[in-house]
Amino acid sequence: ETPIRKICCIGAGYVGGPTCSVLALKCPSIQVTVVDRSELRINQWNSSKLPIYEPGLEEIVQKCRGKNLFFSTDMVPALKEADLIFISVNTPTKTFGLGKGRAADLKFVESCARLIAEVCERSKIVVEKSTVPVRAAASIVNILKANTKPGVSYQVLSNPEFLAEGTAVNDLTNPDRVLIGGETSDDGRRAIAALSSVYQNWVPAEKIIHMNTWSSELSKLAANAFLAQRISSINAISAVCEATGADVSEVAKAIGLDSRLGPKFLQASVGFGGSCFQKDILNLVYISESLNLTSVAAYWQQVIDMNEYQKMRFGQRIVQAMFNTITDKHITVLGFAFKKNTGDTRESPAIYVSKHLLEEGACLHIYDPKVEKAQILLDLDQQDEKEASCVSIFDDPYEAAKGTHALVICTEWDQFITYDYQRMYDSMLKPAFVFDGRKILDHAALTKIGFHVETIGKRPGQSFQEQNWAGANGI
Ligand code: NAI
Repeated sequence: ETPIRKICCIGAGYVGGPTCSVLALKCPSIQVTVVDRSELRINQWNSSKLPIYEPGLEEIVQKCRGKNLFFSTDMVPALKEADLIFISVNTPTKTFGLGKGRAADLKFVESCARLIAEVCERSKIVVEKSTVPVRAAASIVNILKANTKPGVSYQVLSNPEFLAEGTAVNDLTNPDRVLIGGETSDDGRRAIAALSSVYQNWVPAEKIIHMNTWSSELSKLAANAFLAQRISSINAISAVCEATGADVSEVAKAIGLDSRLGPKFLQASVGFGGSCFQKDILNLVYISESLNLTSVAAYWQQVIDMNEYQKMRFGQRIVQAMFNTITDKHITVLGFAFKKNTGDTRESPAIYVSKHLLEEGACLHIYDPKVEKAQILLDLDQQDEKEASCVSIFDDPYEAAKGTHALVICTEWDQFITYDYQRMYDSMLKPAFVFDGRKILDHAALTKIGFHVETIGKRPGQSFQEQNWAGANGI
């Protein structure tokens, strides 16, 4: 068995970049080259300002880059030299044709397979790291087989990535598990063992689990579906809380103490975002439908529908609370990333909420600690700042809040918790509102300052008497 000495990863994104950086750090004897067709991305990886923000990532890149970690647009030589190739390209939801809006578009994965077959002159292990539909590896195998040069053979493995943005370095360094799916043949087992031995440089052997390729592919989709389902479940309960006077934080605490359920992912909020949950569940829904499993498809679709409902409810609540009109009112949006500790805005609920407020005629003052100004304008379909007369982006939260009617918390950034809200209140128009879409602030303290506070899963400013009144009226 020949050990893995050189690894090439296609795709220098949120997965390829951090994964290969940690791999290079943990395996000093392996040379890791991350390639991408985007010159901009590669230049950013080679600069002092990385294209993505992840706590702890910059230090690792600085330590390994130029030693055993390289970023390049020169794909062919890197592929030729590699013993093992990761495919970490994006697999977005199809925007046209059959399966539009739901199926995963595998065109980038396919073009990687074609390029590998075209240029490689010796046998390699090809690892599918992108999240793909079940049986996608079969397509990769077919493309490779139909185009392979004489004397060359490939083993295709599934090795889905479970890192979460915002905690990528920690997730990669201490994974709950590493999943490797492959063929059950001797060649398959050898390939699985080779990839395992790479991970064993830092991951305990018992956490590296082997299974058949299809189980591995499906496990990734299923894991994301289960995680998102927990969020939609607690968000569904939050609506019941608002209608009854129960408090979703108290309910979540009670549920989470059940050792069969556990406390994680029970935080009600404005809704989930990110590039993966929605895309992967839609993919699962589409696969189920294609297999004529209509009830299965409907079951998982509801997880997405509940998320849409939650975002809509929050947007409507803001308008209602502000006397049913926000036309020409200025509103501060705090947080634009889909969650804390990332600059990623893909599918961020902040986009939905902001668009809703703009449609209702409000002017927005937006602040996020990590999202670039240009990204926010792009997400809100504003070509440039001139056109974006009703969207102003600030690099200071206190400046953003000045002269506005309301603060809307869309991302759970830690720094939001410790702001001087008295100072903000003093500079705002009255009555001043706080809409805490992430349930992170001290609502009692804000109320004491004078804010009208609304949050998810709890009735606003509700006194005990009012609750009794509601009870007496049979609600
Ligand atoms: P991304 O969009 O950040 O990065 C993908 C990169 O691949 C881009 O830089 C793009 O230029 C490059 N690329 C696309 N086609 C190419 C080609 N033919 N040749 C060379 N480069 C090419 O995507 P991200 O977020 O890294 O996701 C990658 C995959 O990993 C997806 O399947 C995703 O579902 C999965 N995943 C994502 C996670 C996340 O938190 N973002 C977590 C776990 C899995």
